[in-house]
Amino acid sequence: MISISFEKFSDQHCEKSALALFCDGANFIHDEYYQQLNNLLQGRLEKAVSMQEFNGVTGQSLQLIAPTDSIAQLHLIGCGAKDKSTVSDIIRLQHAGSDAFQALRETKIKNAKAYFIIPQTLAEQSAPIALGARLKAYNFSLYQSDKKEIYPQEISILLPQNASLTQIEAQWAEFEALSEGVYLARNLVSEPANVLYPESFRARIEALEPLGLEIDVLDRAAMASLGFGALLGVAQGSNKPPYTVIIRYQGATDKDEAPLAFIGKGVTFDSGGISIKPAAGMEDMKTDMGGAAAVVGLMSVLARRKAKINAIGVVGLVENMVSGDAQRPGDVVKSYSGQTIEVQNTDAEGRLVLADLLSYTKDKYAPSLMVNLATLTGAIVVALGTDYAGLFSNDSTLSTELKQAGEKAGEKLWPMPMGESYNRRIDSDIADMKNIGGRPGSSILAAEFLKRFVGDTSWAHLDIAGTAWCDKAGPCIPKGASGFGVQLLNQFVADREH
Ligand code: BES
Ligand code: ZN
Ligand code: ZN
Repeated sequence: MISISFEKFSDQHCEKSALALFCDGANFIHDEYYQQLNNLLQGRLEKAVSMQEFNGVTGQSLQLIAPTDSIAQLHLIGCGAKDKSTVSDIIRLQHAGSDAFQALRETKIKNAKAYFIIPQTLAEQSAPIALGARLKAYNFSLYQSDKKEIYPQEISILLPQNASLTQIEAQWAEFEALSEGVYLARNLVSEPANVLYPESFRARIEALEPLGLEIDVLDRAAMASLGFGALLGVAQGSNKPPYTVIIRYQGATDKDEAPLAFIGKGVTFDSGGISIKPAAGMEDMKTDMGGAAAVVGLMSVLARRKAKINAIGVVGLVENMVSGDAQRPGDVVKSYSGQTIEVQNTDAEGRLVLADLLSYTKDKYAPSLMVNLATLTGAIVVALGTDYAGLFSNDSTLSTELKQAGEKAGEKLWPMPMGESYNRRIDSDIADMKNIGGRPGSSILAAEFLKRFVGDTSWAHLDIAGTAWCDKAGPCIPKGASGFGVQLLNQFVADREH
């Protein structure tokens, strides 16, 4: 993980350095650091700016290699708001931090120290800039013998003389906790399924206990005696024993305050079971625990930043495999809630896992609300692509709050419809319901299925099948695991803290 520190600007920082100067819209030419550098470069900076038509708007950058004997490279990074932009200030600055990191990385700065120079107008926004760089710098090279090292490894953020270091460092401490949670979620999603299976996943969660989290584990026997027939049916074809892990965090002044509950699908590999998936692309199904990863990442953030709320995370860790003991299409299972389910398709397994988790969480912990995250349906990828996750809810206030948190945090949600006529489509001839109901609107049917297990509790379901993994890099995200949900839910919790 790259290290980030903050200090006040001084001329000495220009020695053997790689500099990224942040430019806050067209007015950047009046900034004292810009002018100072332009003087040092005898006006050549101004020339470059005019030749390149650089005007300090977000997304723009300008690069000078070896502009003086001591400056190895100088990048101007635009971060002024674009006309009609709907992106929040905080996200724009994160993106600028990410752009600056990328610019420094691409020009390889092995021997030079890396500095971000923050102008007066952005002094108080240094922490989101640092977060953007940290998030962009993620890589997963655990299994590559020839490890790609990340440059720069250290970034020092240079602040104007009158900036409050203590205030900025306190803000960074919160963002740093957030970045660690995002990294944790990305690491979990990146791991192959022969390394990360229910038991090893459980062990990684248990390792978080020292942060101040209480961890309870339900093993197969415990789940059997509770009647988790839906979850256990999914686990039945695998040699790897399943676990439900409950992560509790108590941060509210009132210890008895009802917790917020976050529930995650943790299918460590989804072969489809007997309704087996096609071979092409099946390797991607190691990411089918992205919901659980986000829940674990989130809980770690809440503990690290000592959030003032009570929260519980519940994850169902199972592997969906094919074997002589695997669940068959047509099997009828009995869920923890008592409702019976005809399993018409063993590949619609996520909803079976979540069904038991949702009704158990509701009964046992009486949460004030439940939000579940799951890589639940291929159909949500067809509907929304990779920019938005699907948002389904039985509570319009909760839905609005989540959508707003997503916009603020840069992890966007799109509200999807629900309704009785969809729900009727999962009625079964032999059991209380079936786990599929035909292709049209099948993401909605999955949500309707979950709804049958939440009772009157305020609930939302985030279908993150399209957003948990990125086939190409984006702002603040390298190619691969995104950690989607950690930032969004941390924002959602922060908005409720009192
Ligand atoms: N894990 C998949 C959904 C998925 C698809 C996640 C693509 C990430 C990327 C889920 O368990 C599944 O297989 N769903 C089926 C449901 C169908 C059988 C009703 C699907 O979406 O095809
Ligand atoms: Zn599946
Ligand atoms: Zn799945």
